[in-house]
Amino acid sequence: MAPRNKHTRVKTARGRKSSSTRWLQRQLNDPYVKEAKRLGYRSRAAFKLIEMEEKLNIIKKDMLVVDLGAAPGGWTQVAVEKGAKHVIGIDLLEIEDMEGAEFIQMDFTDNEAPEKLLEMLGGEKPDMVISDLSPYTTGHKKTDHLKIMALVEMAYDFAAQVLKPGGHFIAKVFQGGAQSDLLKMVKADFETVKHMKPPASRKGSPEQYLVALDFRKNVETE
Ligand SMILES: C[S@@+](CC[C@H](N)C(=O)[O-])C[C@H]1O[C@@H](n2cnc3c(N)ncnc32)[C@H](O)[C@@H]1O
Repeated sequence: MAPRNKHTRVKTARGRKSSSTRWLQRQLNDPYVKEAKRLGYRSRAAFKLIEMEEKLNIIKKDMLVVDLGAAPGGWTQVAVEKGAKHVIGIDLLEIEDMEGAEFIQMDFTDNEAPEKLLEMLGGEKPDMVISDLSPYTTGHKKTDHLKIMALVEMAYDFAAQVLKPGGHFIAKVFQGGAQSDLLKMVKADFETVKHMKPPASRKGSPEQYLVALDFRKNVETE
């Protein structure tokens, strides 16, 4: 069940409602933010994976997991807690060390990224690729939507290059879920494909998650 919280009002200069004031007010009144602090999670986003995992139950002991767009590390923490043997988090930003995980500061769209990652995993392919990637937005709705969709497609390409057969892929998508071309490909490559909107994902936000289970093939392993 979603955590509860008392409402806190942020005092501002007369009548002024800057976006930072709105952000601060939302943070102060967000029970997930409080709960993340209480439980020591690095982000409120951790609860999105926790809530999806409550339904999916797919993170198993001894799994190798790759976390795309991992900073500050909330999803990585959850994967480690669930018993994953090794989690590798990739982000453009630096991430504070965590036991059971290894972080690499790089752009996952770099050509060398899949190779670098497999090297870090000692040549073994990961059982799961999870992506909570968010692009840096411009504020221009159409541009931002395109940026987001491009990022999801690249995350999928990345996953298809590195995943073990039988592996899983979870990725943040926006508005109406994965676009039809991408969805067609994902459906061809995975046994089960669905979308989820965990309660921790804000109601007004267009974000939801594409969940693709049991990867059917990996060209390099055939
Ligand atoms: C919403 S945050 C992830 C939060 C994380 N799941 C957690 O629980 O702490 C999205 C991240 O995607 C990262 N990102 C965006 N584009 C990227 C890229 N091309 N390569 C690597 N990371 C990227 C951003 O730097 C940002 O840290």
